[in-house]
Amino acid sequence: KQVIPFYDTHQAGIVTPAQDFICFAAFDLTTVKLSEVRDLFRRWTEAAAKMTAGQPVGGEDDQPSLPPADTGEAAGLHPCRTTITFGVGPSLFDSRFGLGAKRPEALADLPRFGGDSLRPEWCGGDIGVQVCADDLQVAFHALRNLTRLARGVAVLRWTQEGFQRTGGSGSAGETPRNLMGFKDGTANPDIHDKQAMNDIVWVQPSEQPAWMSGGSYMVVRRIRMRIEVWDRSTLSDQEATFGRYRSSGAPLGAKNEFDPLALDAKDEAGQPAIPLTAHVRLAHGEGPSEKILRRSYSYSSGIDRQTGQLDAGLLFICYQRDPRAQFVPIQQRLAKRDKLNEYIVHVGSALFACFPGARQGGYIGEGLFE
Ligand code: HEM
Repeated sequence: KQVIPFYDTHQAGIVTPAQDFICFAAFDLTTVKLSEVRDLFRRWTEAAAKMTAGQPVGGEDDQPSLPPADTGEAAGLHPCRTTITFGVGPSLFDSRFGLGAKRPEALADLPRFGGDSLRPEWCGGDIGVQVCADDLQVAFHALRNLTRLARGVAVLRWTQEGFQRTGGSGSAGETPRNLMGFKDGTANPDIHDKQAMNDIVWVQPSEQPAWMSGGSYMVVRRIRMRIEVWDRSTLSDQEATFGRYRSSGAPLGAKNEFDPLALDAKDEAGQPAIPLTAHVRLAHGEGPSEKILRRSYSYSSGIDRQTGQLDAGLLFICYQRDPRAQFVPIQQRLAKRDKLNEYIVHVGSALFACFPGARQGGYIGEGLFE
């Protein structure tokens, strides 16, 4: 079992191989004092460093007459590769804290996309916190304690838990499947390829503002799946929707999962093997500058009271150097023509500038708040 160091050049949880579970939370600040925001990030940094190492927040010497410093449900548990990744949303740079001049241009509000059905309860936030771990109780514990440490300064705005198949199912190493039954993540860029991560994910020292150097921009979309409709569609329709075979994950017209997309190949009827409206064709990008690093999780949140149907889907998360050049053009193409739109609807959306990592003795967000 691995422990992932909290203090590092980059924040963990971005190019870290995806853990089994996520507890995502967006917070809104209730304070209007920048000094209190700074103190919050100092407290959060210290607590995050402890919890990712499997230690309780606040130490072991609790007083009988006071509430315990740590909520306790992770006592004795291994941290299970916990990572805690912090970012700030566009709203942090409004008039409250005088940070307007420090707002990165790349942190431009996302445009409205055709077909969006965004609900305010799953959108935005001054701060985004992504907690991932191979154990849901451990992840929940971390988020709960961060929330507790924010009392009086920030409140939860929205949260979403997510999952994928775990190591226990014996499928380790294989690409996980999403709730539509398809392998999801096949064509993701290689997280071990440093050059690719510099090109796609990490804000470079040559870019502005300096406080984001080594950081990354996170787009979060809560995408509901119309599961019941999907489950009544035929296998060939499903495969045409993604442009890949369900069983092998191979692109249509190819053999193996990791074969490149043969975008020019024709089927027996002379039609493109990968339909023009297939998700992978449209998402593939118009060149290397349009790539993103996806780090999504499935979610299931009970039933939609209005329809009686499952509220389940994909908590889509991607990282990139500049959403305006990466996520936005891809999503604009998908919103227009993706056949997948028959089966999904985007109901939540948020964007966060995720800081570079903190060094020991420093704290997350230092470059922005000092
Ligand atoms: C590829 C599912 C939304 C971007 C894929 C694949 C699947 C999939 C099954 C093929 C396997 C793979 O390469 O990972 C879904 C589902 C979605 C969704 C179920 C919504 C519920 C999105 C969104 C974006 C996106 C919103 C970005 C705007 C991509 C990209 C690829 C991809 C870049 C790789 C394309 C390639 O180069 O081959 N997706 N996706 N997806 N998806 Fe999605």
